[in-house]
Amino acid sequence: MALVRFDAAAFLRDYWQKKPLLIRNPWSQWINPLDPDELAGLACEPEVESRLVIGAQGSWAVEHGPLAAARFAKLGQEPSTLLVQAVDHHVPQVAELIAPFRFIPDWRIDDIMVSYATDGGGVGPHFDQYDVFLIQGHGRRRWRVGQVCDADSPLLPHDELRLLANFEATDEWVLEPGDILYVPPRIAHDGVAVGDDCMTYSVGFRAPSRSELIAHYVDDMVAEMDDDDRYCDPELAEQANPGEISVEALATLHQMVCGALADRQSFARWFGEYSTTPKYPEVDWTPDEPVSLEEVRLHLANGTTLVRNPASRFSFIQADEGVDLFVDGHCFSCRDGSEAFARKICAESRLVADAKLLQPDSVHVLVMQMANRGAIAFEQDD
Ligand code: SIN
Ligand code: CO
Repeated sequence: MALVRFDAAAFLRDYWQKKPLLIRNPWSQWINPLDPDELAGLACEPEVESRLVIGAQGSWAVEHGPLAAARFAKLGQEPSTLLVQAVDHHVPQVAELIAPFRFIPDWRIDDIMVSYATDGGGVGPHFDQYDVFLIQGHGRRRWRVGQVCDADSPLLPHDELRLLANFEATDEWVLEPGDILYVPPRIAHDGVAVGDDCMTYSVGFRAPSRSELIAHYVDDMVAEMDDDDRYCDPELAEQANPGEISVEALATLHQMVCGALADRQSFARWFGEYSTTPKYPEVDWTPDEPVSLEEVRLHLANGTTLVRNPASRFSFIQADEGVDLFVDGHCFSCRDGSEAFARKICAESRLVADAKLLQPDSVHVLVMQMANRGAIAFEQDD
């Protein structure tokens, strides 16, 4: 499915990170990619993150997944919303909803959360730290958007949901299947199902906080540092006042910290690894049987399509001497003919590479390594 009535450049210029936008059904043809029963099935899986929110305006109770299949039969008349995180990791048809939004770089994309609500269901007025495209999949939902919030915005006392104490609606729309509402970070919003069978797909983005970046970067750097790498002062001169921390000492100390942080190449490599680390690293995607180099060669010679695992994260950084390919937190340094293939596998989630691209032996090894990490697979004929 593609967005045909949508101008990405105008959207980035006028709305992205700036203000909400309602996009009335811009698809060539909207087809709801997931059945509510399949969503309920995912919420019963132990490796899938899910929540069930029961109640409506004023009183909400939250249950965390994995849910027992019998739980769905016991839902009463009260409005309810089932929310399942990272459905794109498990359902390729849902993962396909990301492609139309790839005018935004992959590393900014988080995942697709899917909600299913009965009449009147919703998670209450709140704000998120991230941009989101809310695609109405099935049924109808009334969305209201409101004020810009921040860490000081008063919240209602609720242990699980970050509900806003005040909501000042500025706009309101009823979304029909295929309609999309873009909501920038920190804008108050509230969606309430109008009628049953209301499904919403949230294409969510991520943006690291400065504190998260510094904490993780420093943590990972410190792990590699040597205890002998230490302040030293062989040229120490006598000071008039021994109580003073001198300008010279401070300059050296400051340089010890900032010099280590300032290395752009190390930062680039670290960020590539960090930002492609899987969201759910505990989920094991590795194949039952390891793939051999011979099998890889055979598949590539036969023109078998390479399919990226939708749960895997791929990015590359252009380096002076080649390409650093990052897959699920691992760096593959491509310097020996595999550079073009690395760029291509980052651009396309399904790939029948041409013979020239696949020729270098380094590409065969790379494909084998990625296959054995569960990041790519060879398409099976059904
Ligand atoms: C929902 O799908 O019900 C909630 C999505 C959101 O507000 O971020
Ligand atoms: Co939200």
